[in-house]
Amino acid sequence: MAHIRKATGVWDWFDQRLAVTKFFKVMVSEYWIPKNISFLWAMGVILMTLFIVLFVSGLMLVMYYKPDVNLAFDSVNFTIMKEVEYGWLWRHIHAVSASVVFLILYIHTLVAIYYRSYKQGREMIWVSGMLLFIIFSAEAFSGYMLPWGQMSYWAAMVITNLFGGIPVVGDAIVEWIRGDYAVSDPTLTRFFMLHVCLLPLVVVAVLAVHFYSLRFPHVNNLDGEEIDFELEGEKYLQGKTSESKVIPFWPGFLAKDFFYVSIFMIFFFYLVGFHFDFAMDPINFEPANSLKTPTHIYPEWYFLWEYEILRGFYFDVGPLKAADIGLIAFAFAGISLFFIPLFDRSSVVAPAYKNKAFFIWFWVLVIDMILLSLFGKLPADGAELGIENKYWGFALSIIYIGLLVVVLPLITIAERKRV
Ligand code: HEM
Repeated sequence: MAHIRKATGVWDWFDQRLAVTKFFKVMVSEYWIPKNISFLWAMGVILMTLFIVLFVSGLMLVMYYKPDVNLAFDSVNFTIMKEVEYGWLWRHIHAVSASVVFLILYIHTLVAIYYRSYKQGREMIWVSGMLLFIIFSAEAFSGYMLPWGQMSYWAAMVITNLFGGIPVVGDAIVEWIRGDYAVSDPTLTRFFMLHVCLLPLVVVAVLAVHFYSLRFPHVNNLDGEEIDFELEGEKYLQGKTSESKVIPFWPGFLAKDFFYVSIFMIFFFYLVGFHFDFAMDPINFEPANSLKTPTHIYPEWYFLWEYEILRGFYFDVGPLKAADIGLIAFAFAGISLFFIPLFDRSSVVAPAYKNKAFFIWFWVLVIDMILLSLFGKLPADGAELGIENKYWGFALSIIYIGLLVVVLPLITIAERKRV
């Protein structure tokens, strides 16, 4: 056991037991961040801020929310919105942050793809990030069920039904997830448990892995330059701060991030105050009714591109039914970005504009995802520019899959051969 002497103060007392000075150095004051980054590297800290906002506003709501099919709708739309003082404000804060967190998640993910920050030692950052994305999706879906409005009920119906497509055990899984033959009270209570307890715990655990896996490979930079962090950190500590290519995580990096977080929070509270409605579907202000199917069921904006891929395969192929092909494509879309480090066959870490083919690939991917989202909101039986929506959906889905599975490997193999 270490030798314990009389502490000179509180910090020293903890230091002798928990090595807090060393921990602080490794994780904060001597954790080096490149100087050559932009506001796009503030997205991680904005996401962290939004998670805290979601957590605090969620705590406020859960004090009045009732997880019971007979009470849930009124506890949200009457008790919280009308009776509890400022209950409406906490609800708007929670709903807006739940929507905006996806906007920032997409930006954060796309920035990592653009700068190719998912390889050469950064694979675990990528994998833990994708896990966060999937858990946030489950968190959003389970939260959407809680007000027990029409969209809550029917979205739960559609999504739980999807598991029925799994061969042999599908129906048993659907029943197991619902806790009943139909979406009903046990379904609501288990999704409530997931939303307020299990999933937030998992988010915190995976966040810890995400931050830890950033520590050793360090974050990438605007030019993909390979920096000798030991050497540059040493220069910084010797006082050659302007010559060094790095700054410490605290106070250098976080102080700048606080500035970006502040700007973001102005935009955020503007949305909460004046445009909260974008985060709430009007159909969900009608109580859940199992006898009345809404004419057009669609998910929140951040799931639309995947939803359109689910609907995109409208024809049977041999023994495979259209619904099954759609389900396989949907499952692939859900996890597809996990495999970006595998689909990228080159070891080059550089911003997209340095490789013309990769640059074009990146923007076609972004445009394709936006178009998929736009069509995901439209009814499947309509037509745009004289072409039926189902053909649009099919073409855009094929483009998405092709871009990842075929085009990315081809252009990165060509790049590998060149360098
Ligand atoms: C709540 C969720 C998340 C939080 C709080 C978070 C937080 C952070 C932070 C603080 C950083 C360092 C600074 C920065 O580059 O922004 C970072 C970097 C990174 N994150 Fe996340 N992240 C989250 C989700 C994701 C997701 C969904 C992905 C996508 C797969 C991802 C992939 C990455 C990558 C690849 C880096 C390294 C960037 C670089 O090297 O330049 N993260 N994250």
